Amino acid sequence: MNNHTFDTDTIAPEDDLQHITTRARATTDISHIHEFLGARTSDEWLAAAKQSLPLLMQDHANCEKKAAGTAMNLIFRYEFHRDLQERLAQLVREEMLHYEQVLSLMKERGIAWSHLPAGRYAKGLLKHKRTWEPAGMVDVLIIGAFIEARSCERFSALADVIDDEKLARYYKYLLKSESRHYEDYLALARSVTDEDIDERVAFFRAVEAELIDSPDDELRFHSGVPSAELQAKIAA
Ligand SMILES: [Fe+2]
Ligand SMILES: [Fe+2]
Repeated sequence: MNNHTFDTDTIAPEDDLQHITTRARATTDISHIHEFLGARTSDEWLAAAKQSLPLLMQDHANCEKKAAGTAMNLIFRYEFHRDLQERLAQLVREEMLHYEQVLSLMKERGIAWSHLPAGRYAKGLLKHKRTWEPAGMVDVLIIGAFIEARSCERFSALADVIDDEKLARYYKYLLKSESRHYEDYLALARSVTDEDIDERVAFFRAVEAELIDSPDDELRFHSGVPSAELQAKIAA
């Protein structure tokens, strides 16, 4: 990594990392997200995550970049949809800001960049995406809503258990934009079809909950319950 430091002159004061990580924790009500999701994060995942923050921060950085990239692809693919252009342009901007912020927080903690392949989560959702339109568009937007909602749920849960107070404040700060991203994706999914999407939402709710609730041999930001082998590896 070069010596580039986060340029605080070009961002709004409320998004300034120094400000975010030192002020009182932001409070965003995410009870609607808990209602939307079919499962809560396990204590086993939280315990493993708490012991593996450098890995988790690397995966978080990857997720922010991926979130921006996915939204950018949708902007190109569905250029006829004006509301999608506006909502996702803002989303891309915010995800890239988060990416820069997470890189800064990693640097501050002396965490070097490491290559970390993606876990099973996004693939496990996307394999159910229908291949015809507008069904494919509906599915990808619903999946986006679940990924954003889960991120919110995990940031909130992590903020309550980690010892790194600055990072906990940062995770609380993220709830405001990530919960809006969840709402935007869901609203867009409803807007692109006459089909009642509730059944599809219920389907992905079950798939997503299974990915979160079943044993997983890898630890990632969106991974399942750490398997016995993974827990032993982390404890060693
Ligand atoms: Fe983000
Ligand atoms: Fe997001």
